[in-house]
Formats: sequence, C-alpha cells, structure tokens
Amino acid sequence: MKTILTGVKPTQLPHWGNYLGAILPALSLSQGKDVKSALFIADYHALTTIHDPEIMKEMTYGVAATWLACGLDPERALIYRQSDVPETFELAWILSCFTPKGLMNRAHAYKAKVQENQEQGKKDLDFGVSMGLYTYPILMSADILLFSADEVPVGEDQIQHVEIARDIAQKINNTYGELLKLPEFVTQKGKLIPGLDGRKMSKSYGNHIPLFLDSKKLRKMIMKIKTDSSPPETPKDPNVSLIFDFYKEFATDEQIQDLRKRYENGIGWGEAKQALFEVVDEKLSPMRDKFYELMADKNYLNKLLKEGSDKAREEASQLVSKLRQAMGLGAS
Ligand code: TRP
Repeated sequence: MKTILTGVKPTQLPHWGNYLGAILPALSLSQGKDVKSALFIADYHALTTIHDPEIMKEMTYGVAATWLACGLDPERALIYRQSDVPETFELAWILSCFTPKGLMNRAHAYKAKVQENQEQGKKDLDFGVSMGLYTYPILMSADILLFSADEVPVGEDQIQHVEIARDIAQKINNTYGELLKLPEFVTQKGKLIPGLDGRKMSKSYGNHIPLFLDSKKLRKMIMKIKTDSSPPETPKDPNVSLIFDFYKEFATDEQIQDLRKRYENGIGWGEAKQALFEVVDEKLSPMRDKFYELMADKNYLNKLLKEGSDKAREEASQLVSKLRQAMGLGAS
C-alpha cells in the first residue's frame, strides 16, 4: 500500500491551470491500485497571509468543494483540515528541534523575500518575514511525515520543501532509528498550461480563467482571447493557437481532429472561440453545479471534514506517540 498525500493552501479558487496541471494529475494518481490517498487543506499555512476569518473559512470550504466537484471520492480518499489535526503542530515543534537554522535560510520563499527587500533597499532584510513564513517548510514537513507519505504530488516550487522533509526525517532517523518514512515528490513534467497572454497561467499574472465561471462569463472571457486579424477563409495553424491549445485540454480526440481540419480549411476566430466555449462548458458545467451545490451545504462539508480529521488523528497520534516514546518525552 502506497500513501499519496496532497496539501492545498486555501488562498484562491481554482483556475484552469490548477485544474489541468495539479488537480487532475493528483486525482489520477490517487485512483491507482493499492493507493491510500489523503487530501488536506493547509489552512495553518494560509495563516501566513490570510488574516480575515471569513475569507479563511470560505476558502477552506472552497478547496474541499473544488476537489469533491472535480471527482475526489470521499469514500476512498481521506479529506481533512490541517487545523483539525493538532498532532501536526506537535510534530512541527519536534522537527524544528532537528532543523538547522541554515536550512531555513536557504528555503526559496524566504530567500525570495530577502532578495526583494534587498532590491528595494530596505535596511532590515527580514522586513515582512514572520516566523510562520520562515519556518513554513517545517510545518509542511510535519504534514507529510505525520502520515508516512510515500509520494507527494507538488508543483515545481514545492519540490525543495519535500526535500527538506526528507532531510529532517533523516536526521531524526539517524538519532532514534527508522521512525519516519522518507517521502518522494511527484511533479507533472512538461505540463504547462498557458494563460490568456500565453505565459504560464497564474493568478499573479492576471491571465487566468477561473474554473467555475458561469456560462455567460466563461463565454465572454473566451471571446476576449487575442487573435490576429487574418480573415476567416485563411488557413490557420492549430499548432500556434492558444484557442487550439485550450481546446486540446478539454475535447475528445475526435473533436480535436475535427477542429484541426476546420483550422486548416480556414475558420473564423469567432467560430473557433465558440467551439472552445462549447466544449469547455459541456465539460465543466456538471462540476460547476456540484461545486455550488456543495458550497450551499456547509453542514455536509463540515461533517465530511470532521470525519476525515477523526480518522487522520487516529493515525497521526500513533506516530507522535512513537516519537515521544523514542525521545523520552511525556509519561509512558
Ligand atoms: N506548500 C504547499 C503549497 O503552497 C501546500 C502544502 C502544505 C502542502 N503542506 C503540504 C503540499 C504538504 C503537499 C504536502 O502549494
């Protein structure tokens, strides 16, 4: 049995890039044979930036509803809130006692912040750095090691954090014996979902298309995709068309072949956009309906998250007990 653990920070609602580049691949990994999968909402990680309780709550439900709407099966996968599993924070302290400070100095997010301060000529290079941001990789290591995860699907920017988890686990194992499983990261190579301007789709670039737009807004957004001024009858190259790139992600092979021919025979950009809209809307509308249905039923979501955290805690407390015992902590 292999354990696959995915953590998602409740900081933004998903866009196409998240869905195609992260959610779908993680779901397909979790559906493999002999796989035990867990998805948790990393709300304590989000606390480094989100200080509005209403947003925190709503985004947390939003992440849960998103993954369920996209096909996560709560009967098979464990789904829980990080903040409902306090063993995480006990483990985080333990880990911090084995983490060289220098390791945190080298963590990307912290280094980026220091560099930004430097570039802005700030005297205090740690300006705007909370201990939460600084020790973020330790908390993430706790999430992972607490459940003896074998594989952690992550974006490229999170690889270093999984490596940090391995480093810390190794140190503890060297001291007390093999208590912690060393996790592996899994990334989706070569899958780069472009945004409306052709760069990688990202909310920070403002080039993203939200996953659960209603049909009207979705159509409007698709119609805004920039195209050249070639007339409809001119043959078009599907290999250099953002519309076609998106189409490929949502359409069946047959539909893709069909649109390819229409491109080669000459197609008006308006028509191509309409074809894209139809295929996307058909694919996403059942998920969108499910998402809003779930968001309107917070009791159900609460119940699910509570059940998930009860199960998660059972497992987590065993690991923490083992560590406490090995370290001579607490009553035994
Ligand atoms: N840091 C991750 C991100 O920003 C979220 C996260 C927190 C996570 N804990 C995790 C991911 C544990 C995987 C495993 O995307």
